Amino acid sequence: MLKIRYADLRKARPEVLILPVCREATLHTDGFLAGLVEKALRYESFQGKSGEHFVFFETPGLTATTTLLFGMGKRSKLNPESFRAIAGKAIQQCMKMRSSQAAFAVPDDPDMPLETGDALRALMEGACLGNHVFNRYKEKKKHTALRSIAFFTSREVAGRHVALAGEIASVCESVKRAREWVSMPANEKRPEMLAKTFAAAARKAGVRVEILDEKALKRKKFGALLAVSAGSGSRPRVVVMDHRPKGARRTILLVGKGVTFDSGGINLKPGNSLDGMKADMSGAAAVAGAVTAAAAHKTKHRVIGVLPLVENMISGDATRPGDIVTTYSGKTVEIGNTDAEGRLILADALAWAIDRYNPQITIDLATLTGACLVALGTKFAAVFSEDDALAAAVVAAGARTHERCWRMPLPEDYRELLKSDFADISNMPSSRWGGAITAALFLSEFAKNTRWAHIDIAGPAYAKKASAYCGPGGTGFGVRLLCDLLERELPE
Ligand code: BES
Ligand code: MN
Ligand code: ZN
Repeated sequence: MLKIRYADLRKARPEVLILPVCREATLHTDGFLAGLVEKALRYESFQGKSGEHFVFFETPGLTATTTLLFGMGKRSKLNPESFRAIAGKAIQQCMKMRSSQAAFAVPDDPDMPLETGDALRALMEGACLGNHVFNRYKEKKKHTALRSIAFFTSREVAGRHVALAGEIASVCESVKRAREWVSMPANEKRPEMLAKTFAAAARKAGVRVEILDEKALKRKKFGALLAVSAGSGSRPRVVVMDHRPKGARRTILLVGKGVTFDSGGINLKPGNSLDGMKADMSGAAAVAGAVTAAAAHKTKHRVIGVLPLVENMISGDATRPGDIVTTYSGKTVEIGNTDAEGRLILADALAWAIDRYNPQITIDLATLTGACLVALGTKFAAVFSEDDALAAAVVAAGARTHERCWRMPLPEDYRELLKSDFADISNMPSSRWGGAITAALFLSEFAKNTRWAHIDIAGPAYAKKASAYCGPGGTGFGVRLLCDLLERELPE
């Protein structure tokens, strides 16, 4: 639980008090706190550099048992992400010390390059996101999340941010839920199960949910999606979430790739590449998280989430390379490679949902290509759109949330790489190069006549190692990005 406080910090009784500090500035105008920081900076072992921390126990004048100082480096270099990171690290430290509550003294130095309110927001995000461990499958839980985290600031700043704690908590809880869905093993989230899990979370937030089963998908002629799921013993589902507030002027459609395990199918992935393929439903997890958060804080737009869920497996019934299927749109696809399955399920989901909801804006999120990882690494997503304003809005939301997105091109002359001799289009490009681009071009064939952006999150969806405010596993990438877009950045 997050709380903003303006009472006297000296009399508050958190177990741990956390002070962010800089090398050359205490960051706190309160004389007592500044004195404490100066005292710590006199020790050679602590210079306030980024990554350093310093501990006082039982400080006279403070009721907190432990005071943790965290270095943030140079004051002139401070930015929201450095506050998120420091808060996440501090909370991890508190978990190691087995504390159940902590309080931050929010820096109020007027010479910081960002306002106290922005520092407060970033500290709250980092602390809330960092206060999470995925230990569902451990018998002995080594660390557990803190019960409450308080943020001490002035009465005036607290007054300007009364709604902030609730807002940040609803978004960050959705991020953490998305992380857990992604980290969950594939044997515990086969399409039928995951559909129920998503539906329960959405309904709890007041979202209307519909689950299309295999019969419904056959009736609706989702030929491409059904071809992907053919080799699996688990039946496909499409979950449709509908947040429909009264008086909504615009409909925003969000579609997320939900491959609960991607073996590659008959074009089986080689050993190393199978690793992490339980995370191939990260797009769906991000969309489910964003729609539930949007409903929880009453986003004014109608927001539709469409989550095609399949498992890409091998069996005697599996789709063969060379098979030709008819998609929902009527276009035929030659399946040149069964491992290019994401674009197949998205083709049906996009075309169907655009038909049914006639949205003003469509955005899909998908762990679509290994090529995207090669191009941008693990920290950036790629955004593709023919609409300059929409692409710019995604990039701007990415900068604000630090869920960074880089725009990539959709060159018309690359379309010929998707030509098939026998069908309308092939899911396998004829060239190895530019794989993230040809995948996006394939999708664009099914998102015709709408403002559409595709975000390839193959890199940032999953982290092998822990970072400042995210443990190893699913990162929940996309939830904060989409929430930010829905709240403030969608172009008219
Ligand atoms: N799910 C993979 C993409 C992926 C790879 C995500 C690594 C995260 C990490 C996708 O279904 C896939 O297999 N794409 C193929 C496409 C190719 C066969 C045209 C790829 O990128 O190799
Ligand atoms: Mn694949
Ligand atoms: Zn895949």
